Amino acid sequence: MTDDFERMWADLAPVGRSAVSGGYFRQPYLAAETELRAWFAEQASARALRVEADGVGNVIAWWGPASGPSVLTGSHLDSVLDGGAYDGPLGVVSALAAIDVLRSRGFVPGRRIGVSVFAEEEGSRFGVACLGSRLAAGTLPWAQARELRDRSGVLLPDALEAAGLDGTVLSLADVATFVELHVEQGRDLVERDAAVGVASGIWPHGRHRFDFTGEANHAGTTRMEDRADPMLTYAMTALAANKQARLAGARATFGRVEVAPNGTNAVPSRVTAWLDARAPSEEALSALVAAVSQQGADRAGRDGTALTVTAESVSGSVAFDADLAGRLATDHDGGDWPVIPTQAGHDAGILSAAGIPSAMLFVRNPTGVSHSPAESAQMSDCLVGVSALADTLERLAR
Ligand code: GLV
Ligand code: MN
Ligand code: MN
Repeated sequence: MTDDFERMWADLAPVGRSAVSGGYFRQPYLAAETELRAWFAEQASARALRVEADGVGNVIAWWGPASGPSVLTGSHLDSVLDGGAYDGPLGVVSALAAIDVLRSRGFVPGRRIGVSVFAEEEGSRFGVACLGSRLAAGTLPWAQARELRDRSGVLLPDALEAAGLDGTVLSLADVATFVELHVEQGRDLVERDAAVGVASGIWPHGRHRFDFTGEANHAGTTRMEDRADPMLTYAMTALAANKQARLAGARATFGRVEVAPNGTNAVPSRVTAWLDARAPSEEALSALVAAVSQQGADRAGRDGTALTVTAESVSGSVAFDADLAGRLATDHDGGDWPVIPTQAGHDAGILSAAGIPSAMLFVRNPTGVSHSPAESAQMSDCLVGVSALADTLERLAR
């Protein structure tokens, strides 16, 4: 198992890696992510798994019976901009390694086992998180997805066509259970001294685009009191978001900003910023976004600017199947695994919301850092994760 895992991990290490930061740029349908999907298909074929690839970049490699109720496991291979090595690929590589473990145990699946790769999980190119799994689960209609554009204005169907994909979407109708293994994106497991844990649920979260508009003007000759500067309105809104999230025990981040015309010696005409907001309940999330929007609008009134807020990607609260999580946490040798919530979004949340009983296994992250080149996990913990996943699949697919 160690060899299989390490060999696959070494294959992936250089793909899409920045020589400057050491982080990964694996945006969907571009060269690195396309190479990763081809790599996955090769790994599947080398294991005599049947590859089902759709026209939006989702791929499933099947083992066992040709049809019938299936157990799905896997994750994603795309990354955030300048992301870490583990977020996504750990779940895919662990799933392939778990199949190797099960074969070495002589296990013959009574139910079909599929290893899935879902496309554009991070929403880093088209803005909607978990794009591939939403389409496959039927919770995002193609009629809506086909209107999405990337930062350069490229429409999703055109990006797909350029990557040789035709927009058809595979079906998850036969999937009885989904289990996603993922690197933990916090420090709960470190604090609990556990190599693996099980997810209880996912906080509701969403992305909202804030468009601040004002009046472009000369940075030197325009008196301070004569300006309509959208940068000021944005700056105050970012401070308000931080304060409101702290007060609510929630999270709020402006991590992406575009300024027009983006010149040093001009008051900008427009600032567009994206709010990532997350909260323990849907009510708290709505209240947080409303409070930040209201404070931004109030400030716009004082600055002589205007603000419009548009929801781009919203994910409801997820409570994973408690019975399944309980069985995963307790029904194995050794001590119980901790059951912990997460504030990060995952394809498992999308499948769960679509009515597919789903569960997640987390692998300890020593620093808790994620969505960063500094994301990490110990190889020994990754291998515990593979064993845990193999045990889980064996119970679910026998
Ligand atoms: C996905 O990783 C997210 O939570 O944004
Ligand atoms: Mn992520
Ligand atoms: Mn992920």
